[in-house]
Amino acid sequence: MQAANEALMRHGRFTIALSGGGTPQPLYGLLSQSPFRDQMPWDKTHVFWGDERLVPPDHAESSYGLTARLLLDHVPIPPAQVHRALGEGDAVTAVADYTAQLAHFSPPWPRFDLILLGMGHDGHTASLFPGPMPPQEITDPVIAVTANYDGRPAQRITFTPRLINEAHQIVFLVTGANKAQALHAVLFGAPDPEQWPAQRIQPRDSRVTWLVDTAAAQLLPDR
Ligand code: 6PG
Repeated sequence: MQAANEALMRHGRFTIALSGGGTPQPLYGLLSQSPFRDQMPWDKTHVFWGDERLVPPDHAESSYGLTARLLLDHVPIPPAQVHRALGEGDAVTAVADYTAQLAHFSPPWPRFDLILLGMGHDGHTASLFPGPMPPQEITDPVIAVTANYDGRPAQRITFTPRLINEAHQIVFLVTGANKAQALHAVLFGAPDPEQWPAQRIQPRDSRVTWLVDTAAAQLLPDR
């Protein structure tokens, strides 16, 4: 809510990018119910997704579809303020469409008020996966990715570090013992953003908050 209030003070709207996966689902459920539902400025909120699987919006693996079922269908957000990626399109079309949506909303792309990110057990975030970083990650706001992870759809589009790192606030939500090794490597290991993509999220003048549970944090040094 604080991020929303700061955003409204800043520019009269709250622009947020959400994550897919399992971790944020309880959060979406909480936001869909009182008291949090009633505290959010839905009429001034714009929702995007930090990445999307290239499946139709009604597909079980669609991040938009998941968020709609858990949250957006239950809150008074104007439909025109829900900016989904064209998951039913091919990669080239989906990248061009989402790039155009971002530019139309706020040229050349928005400086998001809040970006919610998850992290995989391999240290990926959004759909930025381990391996050589294409140059488009530092020039373009959105790129296409093919990645096999836990049997999920491999064809995706994703926000790039170029876009993510401009956000006013970034929140990582990471839970589960299977994330512990990656979390330690990302936060306390040697810099290796090819191996640990979450390390590519290094905003200059904004805040990164890590919300982690004790299982995911079990290898972190006591502070
Ligand atoms: C997605 C997410 C992805 C996710 C991680 C963690 O589309 O799946 O954007 O980056 O956050 O894979 O997924 P879990 O929360 O299911 O562990």
